[in-house]
Amino acid sequence: MTHHATAPREPLLPPSPLTRARDLIAEAHRIVALTGAGISAESRVPTFRDAGGLWRNYRPEELATIGAFERDPRTVWEWYEWRRGFLATCKPNEGHRALARFFLRRGEEGIVTQNVDGLHTRAALEEAGDGPPDAALPIEIHGAIARDRCNDCGLRAEAEPLGDDDTLPRCADCGGMRRPDVVLFGEMLDSALLERAHNMAARADLCLVIGTSAVVYPAAGIPLATLHAGGRIIEINPQDTDLTRAAEVAVRGAAGEVLPELLA
Ligand code: OAD
Repeated sequence: MTHHATAPREPLLPPSPLTRARDLIAEAHRIVALTGAGISAESRVPTFRDAGGLWRNYRPEELATIGAFERDPRTVWEWYEWRRGFLATCKPNEGHRALARFFLRRGEEGIVTQNVDGLHTRAALEEAGDGPPDAALPIEIHGAIARDRCNDCGLRAEAEPLGDDDTLPRCADCGGMRRPDVVLFGEMLDSALLERAHNMAARADLCLVIGTSAVVYPAAGIPLATLHAGGRIIEINPQDTDLTRAAEVAVRGAAGEVLPELLA
């Protein structure tokens, strides 16, 4: 009887989530990304629902609802003014940058964000340099904190600092009350923007869901548009969320560390 020497077998390890996610990205034709507060956490912007998050320390019904604005606009204004001041000290992080470079390379837009902090836009402009930033500019479905909007006629304007006296900013056109151009609880999202985001997700075969607890609708329904059209979801988040079970792969980690590796 002859004896064949057999090579010792390497244990067959399943590929890591990062490797599987990379493979899915390489195979995908159209990609969208839905981001939430978690992508800005490493820029020191507080999230909403984590420990230390804004909604753990402040009551949204007093600060971020249309009813609160109508009852007590000054308090709402002062809170947004505080957030504006704080955001002016924050910068895009490696996660925003990697995502911007990725979409600039692909030359096709795909970033949808719930964030009002403007950091995707800043990353797009910085990473595009002298080139056009368009492919990396986000659809901001919850608005932009750096803009004002007239509560009556809807005219948008660059934000102006709040004065020290009791007067609040007024619309230059109709004299109506100005307010930060963000979606408040109890308000509808801009339907044209939401439709654009939804259509983009439904046409995509891969949706990256980054740093969102995925509990606020209609935003959280955007990845489901990709899924229902036959596409897949990759989640990037240090924690499980309501969407994890729908995801093909969940990469556990901070966006600022995962995205540069994932999208290199
Ligand atoms: P949340 O505060 O609900 O969720 C933040 C998510 O980010 C959590 O799932 C965290 O686990 C995750 N996270 C934390 N640090 C992270 C990191 N370094 N990298 C990646 N992920 C990280 O914030 P959103 O889901 O964005 O609405 O909240 C949705 C909406 O609720 C907001 O747009 C805002 C809020 O009320 C409006 O203002 C209209």
